[in-house]
Amino acid sequence: MATKALLVSLATLQGVQAWGTLGHATVAYIAQNYVTSDVKAWAQDVLGDTSTSYLANVASWADTYRSTTAGKFSAVFHYIDAEDNPPTSCNIDYDRDCGSAGCSVSAIANYTQRVGDGRLSDANVQEALKFLVHFIGDITQPLHDEALDTGGNTITVTFDGYTNDNLHSDWDTYIPEKLVGGDSLSDALSWATSLTKEINSGDYSSLKASWIAGDDIDDAITTATRWASDANALVCSVVMPDGVAALQEGDLYPTYYNSVISTVELQIAKAGYRLGNWLNIVYSQNIVAKHKRSTVRYNNILPPPRPLSKAKLARLALDGNCGRHRH
Ligand SMILES: *[C@@H]1O[C@H](CO)[C@@H](O)[C@H](O)[C@H]1NC(C)=O
Repeated sequence: MATKALLVSLATLQGVQAWGTLGHATVAYIAQNYVTSDVKAWAQDVLGDTSTSYLANVASWADTYRSTTAGKFSAVFHYIDAEDNPPTSCNIDYDRDCGSAGCSVSAIANYTQRVGDGRLSDANVQEALKFLVHFIGDITQPLHDEALDTGGNTITVTFDGYTNDNLHSDWDTYIPEKLVGGDSLSDALSWATSLTKEINSGDYSSLKASWIAGDDIDDAITTATRWASDANALVCSVVMPDGVAALQEGDLYPTYYNSVISTVELQIAKAGYRLGNWLNIVYSQNIVAKHKRSTVRYNNILPPPRPLSKAKLARLALDGNCGRHRH
């Protein structure tokens, strides 16, 4: 009894974030392996961190910030609520799915512009870089691209003996942690090292070009919508191929875990590789080119206003939160 109570309180203290801290730090470490030395020097300067974990150290900042009063506005930037119909049909429609206060896609477009905008303060540029490191991770988590049951936050499931889990936090945190065995920066670094090997010369080497094909910082809405669509398709094919009720029939470990774990690894690898490439393009096209102001446009990022759907109301009721459940 005492041991169980202790475990529960430790787990509560450690907190839970979108792709948990493990996933986000792993994405960041992978990206660090693909940025050029110029981008590394620039990012270390922007972040004021010359350590070997300069991106990993800030990878979960956005999750802390969203729960502060000042950062509340950014809670909606962690996801896009696709109002599709899994598992029958999965799709993203930016005008339909991005909320009127923004979403992951609009946020990636906004902070891609801002990180290279020389008119902004150092603090604003730093904020933009920290947001990009985080949101380019979030957008590859399929349940960050799905409105159904508020991104799976209200789907109660059992995972590895925990009978009161929700599907969203299992994808963010508990499934990755089951694979890796912890959530420290050194766990993230070793996972990133092994995924980087797969990208360079293993299972992913023939796929990586497709992960970044067509990526264009001057059309970030189209690019990020493609990233969101790619992950959203996995909601139908991998996350809930037999619907929601089938996920609630027994423990998701080990059968369901075994059916999804390779997708979890794929998505983390993809996010890291994309993030590294994206920062390289931002740097060479906007930053080293002295912030060509003509390419910086802030108008028309958000979709046209429209009445709130049921899914958007449900999200508002959750206060923009996700992954708040704790083991
Ligand atoms: C862009 O980022 C700034 C700074 O965080 C924020 O105030 C603004 O609302 C954002 N715009 C959009 C369209 O997301």
